[in-house]
Amino acid sequence: MIRTPTDRRSLPRRQVLRGLFAAAAAVAAAELAGAFAPFLRVTRVAGFGAPVAIGTRQAVLAELAAHDDRPILNAPGRFWILHAPGGIIAAYRKCTHLGCAVPWDAQNDRFTCPCHGSQFDKHTAVVLRTPAPKPLQLFHISETGSGTLVVDTNPLRVIDRPDNRWDPAHLEIRA
Ligand code: FES
Repeated sequence: MIRTPTDRRSLPRRQVLRGLFAAAAAVAAAELAGAFAPFLRVTRVAGFGAPVAIGTRQAVLAELAAHDDRPILNAPGRFWILHAPGGIIAAYRKCTHLGCAVPWDAQNDRFTCPCHGSQFDKHTAVVLRTPAPKPLQLFHISETGSGTLVVDTNPLRVIDRPDNRWDPAHLEIRA
């Protein structure tokens, strides 16, 4: 093939344009990757909805005993750790009336919901005063091979207690 003078001039220009296009495409790809990276990264959930480690049975019991069995709040997991009759339970902090977060009421030695005054027992979280229709729900607790207690804070797997009484069958961690 015979190249005209025009072809000879346009060849390097074409290569330059190709190079510029490739560089622009690379920049655009890098920007896109940067924009989507946070969405692609796997975020490890460490609080509510995930398993939450709370220490060994002995450590939890010792902490409860040191403060006259005052319940221990786990704020990220949204639960209270209670010294139940014969062991340890974890009560979901959500009021069973209309869902307010239930705080500890040190003055009355029980839980008192700030929204409509429902009260729950210190050791079992059963209802002491309505309008709450049932006790605070319980999260399942398991013990790992190394002795760490792990609370399952998945709200779809709670232990519901519609009959408002303490049932030892719900005790998963015995003292
Ligand atoms: S939300 Fe707790 S008493 Fe109403």
